[in-house]
Amino acid sequence: MASIYKTNSLSHTVLLIDGNHFESSQLISPRIIEILKKKSKKDFKVFGIIDEHGNDIIVAPFVSKENRSATALLEDVRTLGSVAQKVSVAVQLETISVASELSSELNFAFLEGFALTNYSFSKYKSNSSPQLKDIYVQENMLNDQAIGTLNHIVKSVFYARDIVNEPLSGLNAKSLSESAKSFSENVGIQYQELGIDTIRSLKMGGVLGVNKGSLNDPTFTVLEWKPENAVNTNPIVLVGKGVVYDSGGYSIKVGDGMKTMKCDMGGAAAVFGSIYLAALEKLPLHIITIVPAVENMINEKAIVPGDILTISDGTTVEVLNTDAEGRLILSDALVYARQFNPEFVFDFATLTGAAMRALGSEGAAFMGTASQEIKDLVQAAAYYSHERVSEMPLWEEYAEQLKSDIADISNLGGPLAGAITAGKFLEHFTKYPWLHFDIAATAFLSHSSSYRLAGGTGTGIRLMLEFFKRYIANVQK
Ligand code: BES
Ligand code: ZN
Ligand code: ZN
Repeated sequence: MASIYKTNSLSHTVLLIDGNHFESSQLISPRIIEILKKKSKKDFKVFGIIDEHGNDIIVAPFVSKENRSATALLEDVRTLGSVAQKVSVAVQLETISVASELSSELNFAFLEGFALTNYSFSKYKSNSSPQLKDIYVQENMLNDQAIGTLNHIVKSVFYARDIVNEPLSGLNAKSLSESAKSFSENVGIQYQELGIDTIRSLKMGGVLGVNKGSLNDPTFTVLEWKPENAVNTNPIVLVGKGVVYDSGGYSIKVGDGMKTMKCDMGGAAAVFGSIYLAALEKLPLHIITIVPAVENMINEKAIVPGDILTISDGTTVEVLNTDAEGRLILSDALVYARQFNPEFVFDFATLTGAAMRALGSEGAAFMGTASQEIKDLVQAAAYYSHERVSEMPLWEEYAEQLKSDIADISNLGGPLAGAITAGKFLEHFTKYPWLHFDIAATAFLSHSSSYRLAGGTGTGIRLMLEFFKRYIANVQK
């Protein structure tokens, strides 16, 4: 992984300049000013030239368009950073130093877009696509703390992308949990994996039921970040869906439906990545992360439609569709969260195709019972990080779709409002303020979009960092 360092030496450089006022820029040579003068501002794009010493100069002119919100401008400059990374790689550079004359907030966003583009999952490639080895920034571009944060974001997001991109053959429930153990040891997070005997003795019928068709045991991982200076008395609990593969079970997926289902632990990646980043940043917050992990597979022991499972709180569920498995394992985790008397619980899950159809990959659906104050903080963090979210209602009428003739509830709603009926199912198991994030469309992309590259995106982590910062500031107010 390329890290970001400070330097004062100039060789191959990326110059982030103010495209609105380039004529007076101190950063670029008269020759570059002449080149820019010949173009109209709306046609400005990143370009490379070679200076008189033979160094590559990549010019990134940032034109702040009118009527853009502050958060939209941040995203514009992240995308500019992403393009600058691609141009740097295209001209075959291995290291680059970035200089800028913009504000530190814009510099941060530019480098974020740049660094998040500098990723490839090349473990299984004989010839991996080249990336920059290191990224240097000029002394005055960002302070040390901001550079530290950038490196922490890159580390945690790349961890999440890696585990989402890893197929079932390389990542099962056990190795998913072990990946969390590895990062936890380095940053002072307490790691616990309950083990199959405890999962059985706690009667986690959702986790055990979904995993019945697998040859491997499920895992149930609990991480805790508890710094002495935590500003919250009760912990914030994050729950993540850890289905390392979702074949659908006997309600088997058809067509291309199964092709990307290694991504079904994207919720686990989001919450593992979020607590990792919180610890790297030494945030003064008490956070607990819970990940139930299973394989949703088929063999002669697998559950079938019509089976009844008993969740750890005693709720009986008629499984009318084995492909609605995420809610079954999450219910055991949401029950387990009760013992911590949480301030609030957020769950992240690649839960429904319905959320995907509703919003596409431009944002995640969220819903829940947390206070308006918490929801407002989430929204502000979502726009700032550009990991946007849109709220769906949890009106009581939706629960009627989950009625079962022979059990307490069924795991299958009707043909409409599938993201919401999934949320209603989860709500049944919550006894605390709670929000559910359905990241089915945003956790994994089939095509790259700016710095969100094709494959696992690591979504949710930058959202949570911004949320945590706002939450801390709010408490301290
Ligand atoms: N893991 C899927 C949801 C999903 C779909 C994630 C596409 C990412 C991309 C989930 O377990 C699922 O299969 N949901 C079903 C629920 C239905 C049977 C009620 C769905 O959305 O079709
Ligand atoms: Zn499924
Ligand atoms: Zn699933």
